[in-house]
Amino acid sequence: MKYNPRLFILFLVVFLQANFIFGQVYARNGMVSSSSKIASEVGIDILKKGGNAIDASVATAFALAVTHPSAGNIGGGGFLVFMDSTGITTTIDFREKAPLKASPTMFLDDDGNLTEGANLYGRQASMHHIGAKSIGVPGTVAGLYLAHKKYGSLPWVDLVQPSIDLAENGFPLTWSLFSAAAYFNTNSPIPFLKNFFSKDNGELTQFGELWKQPELANTLTEIRDHGQDGFYKGVVAKEIVRFMEENGGIITMEDLERYTAIERKPMKGSFKGYDIYSMPPPSSGGVALIEMMNLMELADLDSIEFNSAAYVHLVAEVMRRAYADRAEHLGDADFNLDMPLDKLTSKSFAKTRFDNIDMANASVSDSTRFGQIYDGKNTTHFSVADVSGNAVSLTYTLEHSYGSGMGASKLGFIFNNEMGDFNPKPGFTTKTGLIGTGPNLIQPEKRMLSSMTPTIVAKDGKPYLIIGSPGGRTIINTVFQTVLNVLAYDMRVDKAIEALKIHHQWLPDRILYERMLLSPDTRKALEAMNHTLVPVNSLGVLMGIQIDTKENIMIGASDSSSSDGAAVGYKYASYY
Ligand code: GLY
Repeated sequence: MKYNPRLFILFLVVFLQANFIFGQVYARNGMVSSSSKIASEVGIDILKKGGNAIDASVATAFALAVTHPSAGNIGGGGFLVFMDSTGITTTIDFREKAPLKASPTMFLDDDGNLTEGANLYGRQASMHHIGAKSIGVPGTVAGLYLAHKKYGSLPWVDLVQPSIDLAENGFPLTWSLFSAAAYFNTNSPIPFLKNFFSKDNGELTQFGELWKQPELANTLTEIRDHGQDGFYKGVVAKEIVRFMEENGGIITMEDLERYTAIERKPMKGSFKGYDIYSMPPPSSGGVALIEMMNLMELADLDSIEFNSAAYVHLVAEVMRRAYADRAEHLGDADFNLDMPLDKLTSKSFAKTRFDNIDMANASVSDSTRFGQIYDGKNTTHFSVADVSGNAVSLTYTLEHSYGSGMGASKLGFIFNNEMGDFNPKPGFTTKTGLIGTGPNLIQPEKRMLSSMTPTIVAKDGKPYLIIGSPGGRTIINTVFQTVLNVLAYDMRVDKAIEALKIHHQWLPDRILYERMLLSPDTRKALEAMNHTLVPVNSLGVLMGIQIDTKENIMIGASDSSSSDGAAVGYKYASYY
């Protein structure tokens, strides 16, 4: 065919823009869907080199630590769910731990009151907390290293090098990063965060300018050359401890040396013939997701139309019950050996929970028993599928957006403020705020309870839906509704991600709803059932992959709420 420059340009325009215009990407040989298009491309490059889904996940996670620093991290922690091509599923827990010097009352003053700003109390008023005591022992590097050692196929250096290149050579600052940069530069009381996006000459990196992170590149180089020890021992560890000593933190060299990631058996549930695999404690995500799916299986969904008042009412009541159980029972599995996990995820327990739902009236959350604390919404999730049928669902976090906002300037990365995910005041549970129940009280080396819900749904023993989200305590509910949308309401993954999300978390006793997606008439009907409704702009930032095994096609989707995210496929079949 004769070369036609106009046709070629048209093709380029369509090809390059399609990713941003449309919500789904189709591919046969691999897919990565993450909150940063650059990081998704790093993962795809690894797949192109012959790496598997674990290799791509490790590389994507390191790349997100460079390109999506609000939540992508090496200073935080998270969870990975892995299903191999034979359907065998496992999880890796790299949640942060409380330091050895931590105690259940470490955030209380002499009168037994919570100290403002010490952990995360009062964080609704201020965006960041000055207090290095809020930093948990980071787990990300150990988790990625364990995943690589056990299930990876490419050399470790190949997985870390792309993120070093990105940090060293820089990448164009996106609008959302620039907006954060400008905000922190003007408003942050924390010098590290104030200058986080500054150039060598001290000036703020501008929108579209290359943002370079030479100190982070050095830290990543240590990790590339020494693996897990590059972070938990040696010069990086020494600098972390120096930072702690200088800033009132309590993490010691012993904490760093003792940190290990743990492989755990996944929580397994089912829904109408599909198998659901998700994270066990210290995440509450898998337990609550499976409990909610079990309750929904008992409903006559054919007669409950999506988005109707009956639908929102039922979903909210299901959430209310699961979150009450979460608050009562869940914490780190290594410290709470008697958690009733089998019971909470059983079909018979779901029946007793379902039977006391009044289909016409809201129940009332018992405020004398459980409450909920405000939770940071800034975590990040990505999903990966490779050509051999392996799948990874990975969610990790710094807790708040940009975590504690603190970091050692020589190291160039931000520390988490994950200690705020513990119940900070023993026995103190309030209607609007705090939980004081035992399983999630602070103890040395305990992992704080999480809501992260990286999930893989299998059909006939093969990955079918790989999904997860950020969103603090809303995570479980946004994943739950997306899974339900695909499995019960037959939506394609991108539609399921964009469809209405609501959130009820037992206490405060109210439904959050996405304001553009619930009609005034439906809201009126729900109010008549005694629900309190509170609008929010959006819930969740879901990154998903659906695999149509019959057609042998992967469908990748990135939530439109994500400014910089994209699903990127290996060998695109087509764009719609
Ligand atoms: N920091 C959010 C979570 O772990 O649920």
